[in-house]
Amino acid sequence: MTQGGDWQLDVLRELADGAQGGTPPGTRPAASSATAGGAAPDTVRDALPAAPPVARRAHDPHVPAPAPESVPTVDPRLAIALGRPQHGDSLGRRTGRSLRRLAAPPGQEIAEQTRLAQEVQQPVTTGRVIAVTSIRGGVGKTTVSALLGRTFNHYRHDPVLALEADAALGTLPVRMGGESVRWSCADLTGILTPTMQLTDITGYLVPVSDGGWLLPAGQGTVGAPLDVRTYRTVTLALRRYFAVTVVDCETLPGEVARTAMDTAHARVVVAPMTAEGVNGTRQVLDWLARLPHSALATTVVALSAISPDTTLDPKTAVAHLREPGVPVVLLPYDRHLAQGGPIHTAMLGQDARDAAVRLAAEAMHRAVRVR
Ligand SMILES: Nc1ncnc2c1ncn2[C@@H]1O[C@H](COP(=O)(O)OP(=O)(O)OP(=O)(O)O)[C@@H](O)[C@H]1O
Ligand SMILES: [Mg+2]
Repeated sequence: MTQGGDWQLDVLRELADGAQGGTPPGTRPAASSATAGGAAPDTVRDALPAAPPVARRAHDPHVPAPAPESVPTVDPRLAIALGRPQHGDSLGRRTGRSLRRLAAPPGQEIAEQTRLAQEVQQPVTTGRVIAVTSIRGGVGKTTVSALLGRTFNHYRHDPVLALEADAALGTLPVRMGGESVRWSCADLTGILTPTMQLTDITGYLVPVSDGGWLLPAGQGTVGAPLDVRTYRTVTLALRRYFAVTVVDCETLPGEVARTAMDTAHARVVVAPMTAEGVNGTRQVLDWLARLPHSALATTVVALSAISPDTTLDPKTAVAHLREPGVPVVLLPYDRHLAQGGPIHTAMLGQDARDAAVRLAAEAMHRAVRVR
């Protein structure tokens, strides 16, 4: 990879080289076999090395660790029980929207969509990291991370990574549509070397169904929590290869979440649409304002309605969160998101889809401002 400016071109060239067959010089045979013959693998199975490579643990370079087993993200019996994905908007709502469109051509709407798409597609000179966290659990961090990952993948032509930094039985692989997981953040600390090419790296990642890559925090079992050292090592190493990395963090004030918030180029704080959730999130914003390098300027709030029964007035909630000077994007309650399981972008309600693009645009706008 060349020094400085054109790293994205290098990355794209590497991918193109891979697609034409042949392994780029300097690749590790074990991992590159995952992409043998070239193009990015279509399935998780394709992405896995044929013969399990041997990972070397960072803390003891002389002791080879066995390659981890591939584990399904959801028990197949539960996957069947999930049923068909339902659309975020009811049929009546979709029909009404189409009729309104026919009656009034949405000129202004298209102009705004174009502006947001341009923000999301902004070129970057070095990989940008966007961390997603919250002050409470179960408020929509992973859902927001998956929506951001999918949105960046949809609009950008350079590699995008969704990184799970929540080892507490995180759900990002499921939400991103990964069928199984194998290598985790901790495994990669002992494997990544500066000479590796993108095609080597992707052999250790989960390919996401509609583009992009995923690195899970673990194998979906109750395991050791991710530590700060592992997080720093992995994000620093992978930033070289991915234009945008979206990090699904644990809940604040966990140590990894604080490190992620502190070191990211932009951050998204997810607030649930409840009085106590908005109140707690406001305290996080006040904490960010006190950080030495004014993290607030690169922070966006996602106000998430995870229940259809919320009664908190959204205008009051938005005004309260905006007071410290951050943008607030309202993510409405969406039936498809509430259903759980893999998120299918095409099944999202229009308002949730718009919110995802707006959130990605606001986050990217801030992430590129940071050197
Ligand atoms: N906009 C939304 N509309 C409807 N349901 C939602 C929405 N956002 C999130 N949910 C639902 O809320 C629940 C919690 O979401 P999610 O898992 O993303 O939260 P989390 O903050 O990552 O949780 P944890 O702290 O356990 O990691 C999930 O069941 C999800 O389907
Ligand atoms: Mg989560």
